[in-house]
Amino acid sequence: MKHFTCVQDIGDLREALREAFEIKRDRFQFNELGKNKTLLMVFFNASLRTRLSTQKAAMNLGMNTIVLDVNQGAWKLETERGVVMDGDKSEHLLEAIPVMGCYCDVIGVRSFARFENREEDYGERVLEQFIRYSGRPVFSMEAATRHPLQSFADLITIEEYKKTDCPKVVMSWAPHPKALPQAVPNSFAEWINAAGYELVITHPEGYELDPAFVGNARVEYDREKAFAGADFVYAKNWSAYAAPHYGEVLNKDRSWTVDAAKMALTNDARFMHCLPVRRNVIVTDEVIESPQSIVIPEAANREIAAQTVLKRLLTQE
Ligand code: CP
Repeated sequence: MKHFTCVQDIGDLREALREAFEIKRDRFQFNELGKNKTLLMVFFNASLRTRLSTQKAAMNLGMNTIVLDVNQGAWKLETERGVVMDGDKSEHLLEAIPVMGCYCDVIGVRSFARFENREEDYGERVLEQFIRYSGRPVFSMEAATRHPLQSFADLITIEEYKKTDCPKVVMSWAPHPKALPQAVPNSFAEWINAAGYELVITHPEGYELDPAFVGNARVEYDREKAFAGADFVYAKNWSAYAAPHYGEVLNKDRSWTVDAAKMALTNDARFMHCLPVRRNVIVTDEVIESPQSIVIPEAANREIAAQTVLKRLLTQE
């Protein structure tokens, strides 16, 4: 694997899961692999789980790690080519990226959608520039359109908790006060489709995702029907994808908050969320604190997902 930005990059999913569980059984068994290798993690946006889990995964492999918060202490970066740089941005990404590549062996990048232009966001310009100009293996720590490390961890978690070979997985839109990207739901749909599970996506009208990510999933606007018989409920907010409302919050309907009444419609479903989560907006205290909630083991699996990906990037498997 040269770079990791989406489910296709991981290749055979069953083999990737087998490797992930092998790592989970003894996460220090490959601690010589990263000796004298350096991971650079570049953050254009905030993070708790991705930062800690990826750094821990790298340390498990014996790597050194450097974290760069672009917005704290680095020169302000210009990302557009052709701009006359006489404003507040002192350095261009086109110099900064190859320079970063000089100091490391692998680069992780977090760069969210900006919501200024859908085509630019969905073109993944920042991530693509790292791939093109760093000279290093690059992996996504959440980009404009996908969050593959999260989805890999979600899939590992479902594998651990599923009671049937082909569980019914329901991804439900939930309200949020701010406009959030589509990266997590896009990516989750992509990975769950690739795993071959039954995927139902439920959301208010207007929140349709890019059909390229929805794939074979069933879109069900009647959320009671969607929740019926679910084995897993994956809650997530996202902003509108469709033009002319790309990146907008169309409603904040609290009747979509995942509560005990909705969970009662399911097949004793496990509750999942990528975190951070706004309690009593996305999900009630009662549901997230219930025995059905697996948000903490889900977050713990971020370390396993990151370590599996880093191991492959180090060995070019
Ligand atoms: N789920 C996730 O990516 O969390 P962070 O934004 O805290 O990294």
